[in-house]
Amino acid sequence: MEKDSNLDEMVKKIQDSILEEEKDLYSAIVIDHAYNPRNIGNIKGADGVGIITGPCGDTLQIYLGIEDNKIVETKFLTDGCGASIACGSVITELVKGKTVGEASKIKSDELLSILDGLPEENVHCTVLSVNTLRSAIENYNLKKCNNEDIRSDNGN
Ligand code: FES
Repeated sequence: MEKDSNLDEMVKKIQDSILEEEKDLYSAIVIDHAYNPRNIGNIKGADGVGIITGPCGDTLQIYLGIEDNKIVETKFLTDGCGASIACGSVITELVKGKTVGEASKIKSDELLSILDGLPEENVHCTVLSVNTLRSAIENYNLKKCNNEDIRSDNGN
């Protein structure tokens, strides 16, 4: 029992010191979204799915639920760094309620400014997020076109 509490204390000390180091590198908003990510997960039967692996080898997945051309639900998954978790969390929050057209105009600079900046080596995480979002939107547009083709083939 004593051993467990010593171990817990040690783990807590290590976690606190990692967090202190991260506070020097990352803004409060990055740390908040990296440690408490919003919209983690996937959407079964999503209207649009984007899955992209960046040059760093990390993969981001974005899932969109769309109704009447509006993004009503978003989820993301990543095996990437803390910055990619923060980017996925912020971008999925940002697109909620936007039209597909509005969401496709989001740029990585916008994401970077919402995050209060990132260290140089993490800037590409914002690009990966925007590219994955665009890929999910392309996937949605493609599905929509295919459905319209099927409907017109059926004479509807
Ligand atoms: Fe690869 Fe951040 S997404 S380092």
